[in-house]
Amino acid sequence: MIKNPLILAIDTSCDETSCSIVRGLNVLSNVLPSQQIHKKHGGVVPSLARLAHMQRIDSVVEEALKKARVKISEIDAIAVTIGPGLAIALEVGIKKAKELSFEYNKPLLAINHMQGHLYSSFAQRNSSKSTQVDLKKQKFPVLGFLISGGHTEIILLNSFFEYQKIGQTLDDSCGEAFDKCGRMLGLGYPAGPVVSEFAQKHRKNMTLEIRKSNLSTLCVSTNKSSGQVYELPIPMAHSKDLNLSFSGLKTAFAQLVNSLTEEEIHISQKLVDTGLKKTQIMDLCVAFEYAAIEQLKIKLEKAILEYQPKEVWLGGGVVASSRLRSELRKICLRSNIQLKYPYSTKLTTDNAAMIAIAASLKIQTQLPTLKHNPKVGVFTKEYEFLDRQPSLSL
Ligand code: KG4
Ligand code: ZN
Repeated sequence: MIKNPLILAIDTSCDETSCSIVRGLNVLSNVLPSQQIHKKHGGVVPSLARLAHMQRIDSVVEEALKKARVKISEIDAIAVTIGPGLAIALEVGIKKAKELSFEYNKPLLAINHMQGHLYSSFAQRNSSKSTQVDLKKQKFPVLGFLISGGHTEIILLNSFFEYQKIGQTLDDSCGEAFDKCGRMLGLGYPAGPVVSEFAQKHRKNMTLEIRKSNLSTLCVSTNKSSGQVYELPIPMAHSKDLNLSFSGLKTAFAQLVNSLTEEEIHISQKLVDTGLKKTQIMDLCVAFEYAAIEQLKIKLEKAILEYQPKEVWLGGGVVASSRLRSELRKICLRSNIQLKYPYSTKLTTDNAAMIAIAASLKIQTQLPTLKHNPKVGVFTKEYEFLDRQPSLSL
């Protein structure tokens, strides 16, 4: 086992050109300038994302090394995201990682983006007080709950790299629903963080209540002063499995918005002047967030009951929502299970530090199974992935 490997990682899976240096599990730098250009289009434009990655990748790598005060010659291994993500964006990071690997004769690890989210809670702040994590003491089974813009999945881990997907969204991801519903309210792109922020500020003005019948489970949010009621369904509340669904919630939300406005608003419409009052927009953010998080809670409770995990690890952009974290924490507390999530929101949305952490864990726990080929300077088993289509999904 290599203890505390020094890793340089690159992630260009979507619209963040990110490079990070990690020693062991300590994040020395995590550079992630976001591409503002997509805001005016109301979503990520792949060709623009690729161009911006190409323009920035060299300087982002340099900055990550400089911030970490590390020379590339000192690096033990390079890691890069190989998917899932936008293929033409991923290619930019993969090309740069290969170049560095060959030029400096460093082993190269291909990392699945969702593996990055899965292990992101292991990242430690780089300070003298940071605690040393003893990986040998990690208890399993563990449930990973990944809630991002592209995925919503529940993973069962029986050891660090032995896992299976036990539940996933059957249609849209939770993050996409946050973005689309926020967009209907004219909250820009990505709307998820704004929906969360509005809901956080305004929740005290609403009462929240679950109404169950044999056929459906409804989230009923009522504005305490106006008395306005907002009903939204929890689509998969009654299914016995651990799958989720957010498309029905999105449709119900569009209908709800339309019932409050004169103009008809479509799900795909962007940056509209909704004609809604500010308080109605705030009410709707609370109502949407409530319904989205209730579904996640129901499925986590079910998974805990079924698999009796020792810990739950959260990862993905939506984990930046403080309500999501506190609601899921309550569930884990009731079952005496430890809930882990990244120490900063810079580690929940896409970033290269989580890719470096996944690589570090792989090296620290799996190295004997990775074949190092000194001729080409890479772990061959991993390297094979790099020449395939980067479309792996957990
Ligand atoms: O993990 P991520 O950066 O990208 C993917 O791998 O997909 O997740 C991005 C998603 C977006 O949908 C964004 O709106 C959502 O995470 N997000 C949030 C918050 N911050 C980011 N959703 C709700 N509340 C937030 N505070
Ligand atoms: Zn992601």
